[in-house]
Amino acid sequence: MSQLSPVLKQATPVVAVRGEGLHLYDADGRRYLDFTSGVGVTSTGHCHPRVVEAVREQAGRLLHGQYTTVLHDQLLTLTERLGEVLPAGLDSLFYATAGTEAVEAALRLARHATGRQNVIVFEGSFHGRTMGAASLTTAGTRYRAGIGPLAPGVAVAPFPAAFRLRLSLGLSEDEAVAYALRGLDEVLATVSAPAETAAMFVEPVLGEGGYVPAPPGFLAGLRERADRHGILLVLDEVQTGFGRTGRFWAHQYEEGVRPDVLITAKGLASGFPLSAIAAPTGLMQRAWPGSQGGTYGGNPVACAAALATLDVLREERLVENAAEQGARLLDGLRTVAAGAPAIGDVRGLGLMAASEFCRPDGSPDPEAARRVQQAAADLGLLLLLCGVHLNVVRMIPALVVTAGQVDEALALWSKAVAAGAR
Ligand SMILES: Cc1ncc(COP(=O)(O)O)c(C=O)c1O
Repeated sequence: MSQLSPVLKQATPVVAVRGEGLHLYDADGRRYLDFTSGVGVTSTGHCHPRVVEAVREQAGRLLHGQYTTVLHDQLLTLTERLGEVLPAGLDSLFYATAGTEAVEAALRLARHATGRQNVIVFEGSFHGRTMGAASLTTAGTRYRAGIGPLAPGVAVAPFPAAFRLRLSLGLSEDEAVAYALRGLDEVLATVSAPAETAAMFVEPVLGEGGYVPAPPGFLAGLRERADRHGILLVLDEVQTGFGRTGRFWAHQYEEGVRPDVLITAKGLASGFPLSAIAAPTGLMQRAWPGSQGGTYGGNPVACAAALATLDVLREERLVENAAEQGARLLDGLRTVAAGAPAIGDVRGLGLMAASEFCRPDGSPDPEAARRVQQAAADLGLLLLLCGVHLNVVRMIPALVVTAGQVDEALALWSKAVAAGAR
């Protein structure tokens, strides 16, 4: 008799047997409102009929067409179609399966293309669990401790986490941006010389690090320094991409910010393992021969799911819906927080929304966050924690969420906060 690894911790006790739209069902038929989307993956909701149909059709034609052995039609069509949504100039794609693999590919590309070794990441970053990506991850020692040595050549600069910087240093949002950019300049002056720095990897909204949107001006400041020093700007939009934040890519909130490399995964294929990096062809071809490949990358069924996802996003106007419902959700969370002193901050962008739990002295309160998250699960609302201290409860519903479902989630959230935040 074998069992699941005890190290694989479950956020909820639910054993799902079926999913439909915003709902998961267990074997007893109990219905859960899923505001986790499998960590931001099921962008079109569980089992969207268009995605299911595309997957069924593709599964009957070709299950696996290994892309360094043969090409297949789904891969070629997806590559063409992604051109409709990718930032201008990022016209070359390499596919993998998980987000972390795409991060590894971006890291290899950055080092190959620049001939430089170092990488700068930002406090609270999460880029994945494989060794290269873990070396770029600072969202908690739980992702790094005890597995070293990690890859050398990674320097960490401050992220403008406005709430924390207001509490600790009394900074406004603009001052937080200036503080973080000064910190980056300091890193370039003291730790990682520009001539040795290949890339900066950054999430437009810190994901696992606590759902902290980069305030206006920060990404533009990174772009300016990237141009000045010939450093690549790699935007990790694994969690923020594919419409989740109310723009197709979260960095599009900031005028004039253009990534050199964009990383996507999660919502890209509505639940199928598919990830990609996009870069200008001129840059991509500086990756060394043989450095891109893999057995499963660009799987035909996953590509078919991604193509259906693109259709659904456009036809059902889901990016617009993410902006609209995200604003409704954030408003509602703020109303709940106004009556709950344990919630120190509410923040987010589109359908990435979070409440941060703090003790009266402002220090992180992971116990309260955990109690509220569990109380919500008992009430039938599935949520996840995040943040370096795991004191942030996040909501990441599918982009098909309706105003009624947002209101239902908020009503349950209000009860869970009352039950769990003491
Ligand atoms: C921003 C970001 N990058 C990379 C990853 C790693 O993706 P995966 O878990 O698919 O390897 C994640 C996963 O949560 C993420 O949020």
